[in-house]
Amino acid sequence: MAETKKIAVIAGDGIGPEVVAEAEKVLQKVGEVFGYTFETEHALFGGIAIDQKGTPLPQETLDVCKRADAVLLGAVGGPQWDNNPKELRPETGLLGIRKELGLFSNLRPAVVFDCLKDASTLKPEVLEGTDLMVVRELTGGIYFGEKFRRETEFGEEAVDTCAYNVTEIERIARQGFEIAMKRRKKLASVDKANVLETSRLWRETVIRVSAEYPEVELEHVLVDNCAMQLLRRPSSFDVIVTENMFGDILSDEAAMLTGSIGMLASASLGEGSYGLYEPVHGSAPDIAGQGLANPIATILSTALMLRLTFGYSEAADAIERAVAEVLDAGHRTSDIAAGRGNALSTTQMGEQILNAIRK
Ligand code: NAI
Ligand code: MG
Repeated sequence: MAETKKIAVIAGDGIGPEVVAEAEKVLQKVGEVFGYTFETEHALFGGIAIDQKGTPLPQETLDVCKRADAVLLGAVGGPQWDNNPKELRPETGLLGIRKELGLFSNLRPAVVFDCLKDASTLKPEVLEGTDLMVVRELTGGIYFGEKFRRETEFGEEAVDTCAYNVTEIERIARQGFEIAMKRRKKLASVDKANVLETSRLWRETVIRVSAEYPEVELEHVLVDNCAMQLLRRPSSFDVIVTENMFGDILSDEAAMLTGSIGMLASASLGEGSYGLYEPVHGSAPDIAGQGLANPIATILSTALMLRLTFGYSEAADAIERAVAEVLDAGHRTSDIAAGRGNALSTTQMGEQILNAIRK
């Protein structure tokens, strides 16, 4: 019997609790099938925490997260909190939790399911076999650099600065290599080393770290070229590691290869195996409480958790296989139904996936 793994579950608001409920059933099923024990602890987060505790991220919730091995997050946000002061907005809790948990890298896989190729704007033959992961640095670069405005003889001027130190680059580079080792062992490091000093340090550092991973095939790609290659030959990428702003842009571009936001999972990692897992989508207040939400993004996020935090690759594969099987069989929630009619509800889709999970 494997040791008990503790998972903090913070479902949030909107469709968060609906999709998280399906993901929890999947975890339970995987436990039964593979002999793993998961212990979940629930805590309030986001709008519901504002309403009940007066803050989006109560200390209690943070404590629950910190004593767990991993966090499963739904989504937060809604129009009823939009006009609150900053400290009483759900999204403030989101930034707070990532910072408090020391999560410095954001991982977004883009997997194209064969039967959903028609949901993308790209040609099916270009998408064939696409299965890539963007690893984005989350705490440095131009988003966090000094910023100010000043008067010049040409009028007002705004300044943003981009800074990266070698420690920040090393830890994200290492994470890129580690993830590549668990996949197809190919890493594309994306920079703008032909013009930016931060990118030159980035490239030097990545090359130095690469000596520790001789099995990983490393290529350096300039960011503008990478933006083109993602559309031209997406299936040739395995892991892409890059700095904060480039990663922000490229991960959105990569996400769109796959079609629907209801399908996209993500992980945020820090040092060690600890991680926070959540769907890329938000709380979708427009469809909340109606059983319309696609739970697949959250279910695939639990697969990432099993693989990246717990090292349960077989179980992660089983979840991904189950999702593919259910889609292949033609089952769809309304966001991916493309006018086929007879769309499944959130729980019906969850049920289908549950039944398809096997060793
Ligand atoms: P959204 O992702 O919540 O919704 C965008 C559109 O996609 C909506 O039409 C929604 O119905 C649909 N959609 C989203 N997830 C879906 C799913 N699983 N199944 C089927 N359809 C789905 O983004 P939006 O509308 O910009 O933001 C809504 C709220 O969510 C805002 O308060 C925003 O701040 C918050 N938000 C929270 C995030 C988080 O918790 N990590 C991330 C993004 C937004
Ligand atoms: Mg973005």
